[in-house]
Amino acid sequence: MEVIIQSSPEEACRIAARIVAHRVRQKPDCVLGLATGSTPLQLYAELIRMHRKEGLEFSGVTSFNLDEYVGLPGDHPASYARFMKENFFQHIDMPPESIHIPDGMATDIPVSCASYENSIRSSGGIDVQILGIGRDGHIGFNEPTSSLASRTRIKTLTRRTREDNARFFDSPDEVPRHAITMGIETIMEARECVLLAFGEAKAAAVAAVVEGPVTAMIPGSILQMHPATSILLDDKAAADLQRKDYYQYVYVNKPEWQRI
Ligand code: PGA
Repeated sequence: MEVIIQSSPEEACRIAARIVAHRVRQKPDCVLGLATGSTPLQLYAELIRMHRKEGLEFSGVTSFNLDEYVGLPGDHPASYARFMKENFFQHIDMPPESIHIPDGMATDIPVSCASYENSIRSSGGIDVQILGIGRDGHIGFNEPTSSLASRTRIKTLTRRTREDNARFFDSPDEVPRHAITMGIETIMEARECVLLAFGEAKAAAVAAVVEGPVTAMIPGSILQMHPATSILLDDKAAADLQRKDYYQYVYVNKPEWQRI
């Protein structure tokens, strides 16, 4: 794990955008794993800016989103399909047929999940997976005690996750109880992961992910077993880390050839 601590979410998102842009330029037909939520918004804004001002092209890129609520049609204001369209896809040149988001309206959810896994596999696998982290340590919607070997499937959201996400709905009761999410093993197969976390509400989860034991109680902790993960934080999200000084020392002394 490489832990990168910046003074603001904007700075951290600029670095995340540079990582994604670098991979897209290296491999114009690369496969991106994408995340929703408040955290990656500035990352998408920066990628859109790079598309407009720096010629960053997404025309050959394929994407797979982490998750979607069960029971929300793609045009529902709180669906992740709509979130992605409004905050990213409608501003760039990725062809609609290259965009994949789990189908929250699937009539046969297990079949739909198996087909999502097949699509990821036949695309060649995810090159860079963007991740947020829940206050309970979830990645995607893999809630605590999710199998560390899980694949794309339906999950029941915890009360806390439903409360955290109620801000996107007209009333808390409207938050769906279920979601389809890539599994933990699906995420672990990505060649590279970039996890973003900002604000003091995430500090405990970040410390558990980076410095705690690997446990299904904190699904994000499995990233300790991933060979190429960057954790991008602002100071507030990094506040509970015991080895903060070391991570900063590593970053300052990073060899020039490793910098993007
Ligand atoms: P957030 O969600 O970015 O809205 O905080 C993160 C998550 O639940 O994974």
